[in-house]
Amino acid sequence: MPAESKRDFLALETVGHEVLCNLLRQAHALKAETKFAREALRDRVLVMVFEAPSTRTRVSFDMAMRKLGGDVLSLSAHDMQLDRGETPADTARVLSRYADAILLRTDDPSRLDAMAEAASVPVINGLTTASHPCQILADIMTFEERLGSIEGQVVSYLGDGTNNVAATWLEAAGLFGLSLRLGCPSSHSPSEKLVLRSRSRARERGGDIVVERDPLEAAKGSRAVMTDVWVSMGEREGGSKHNALSPYRVDDRVMSVASDDAIFLHCLPAHRGEEVSGDVIDGARSAVWDEAENRMHVQKAILLWCFGVEI
Ligand code: CP
Ligand code: NVA
Repeated sequence: MPAESKRDFLALETVGHEVLCNLLRQAHALKAETKFAREALRDRVLVMVFEAPSTRTRVSFDMAMRKLGGDVLSLSAHDMQLDRGETPADTARVLSRYADAILLRTDDPSRLDAMAEAASVPVINGLTTASHPCQILADIMTFEERLGSIEGQVVSYLGDGTNNVAATWLEAAGLFGLSLRLGCPSSHSPSEKLVLRSRSRARERGGDIVVERDPLEAAKGSRAVMTDVWVSMGEREGGSKHNALSPYRVDDRVMSVASDDAIFLHCLPAHRGEEVSGDVIDGARSAVWDEAENRMHVQKAILLWCFGVEI
């Protein structure tokens, strides 16, 4: 594919609602095996570069590529010249000469942008401190398979409102017209600018964004209650963040005010007893293992889209 028409998967907003809906449809079909793509990516290689640790992203992309007939190389930045100051742009130019797509996980979103700009092959966001689009697409798939279309639904996120997962749910709310309730303390609320932008997009599609200080108000009537670790990768935090976020732990009391059919979602890894109680994450309403599995299915769809391969 010529560089000017390459398809990067960097953010939900840049990919857009229509393509995301197609990716979700395809992911469901691939999971249900009503569509097959076993040789679709034969002779294609994805190089994954991790500047931060990963279990799910690394393994689910690896398995997705293999199951589509392609190959994969997973690299830690510590083993690369990136660690000695080679720029992301130069790295991308070189990797583009060997591989057919690049995935980057990094603490610094500007490094992903630099790679995408310099690469002549598609670049995929494998998580930055600002966003985690592959994860939220898998979360939406999980919601849909349990509860039907997510368009216009009430969903809640409790905990650190400043992290990559919360920021990407704000984007998703704007795209899917969600009524997103963010339960977080003022010390860990998303920026006003981000909330206003997502709120106006969500309202255009019949949704809304509400930032709530009361965790029970945030979860009330919600069909999916979500949370994430209190301390994200690359953050150095003492006890003060834990103290501020402890009222926002997702426990039975929180789940009891959610909709009767509400599910619990968590991107994982989880810390039981911190952001979620063991009863909830290991309980009947938890969908976290399906959610982790669905990373692989949505990523198959993402890879096929990046490579422009129709099935
Ligand atoms: N949820 C997620 O991205 O997990 P990893 O950090 O293990 O990739
Ligand atoms: N917010 C978490 C997500 C992990 C998948 C982090 O960045 O560490």
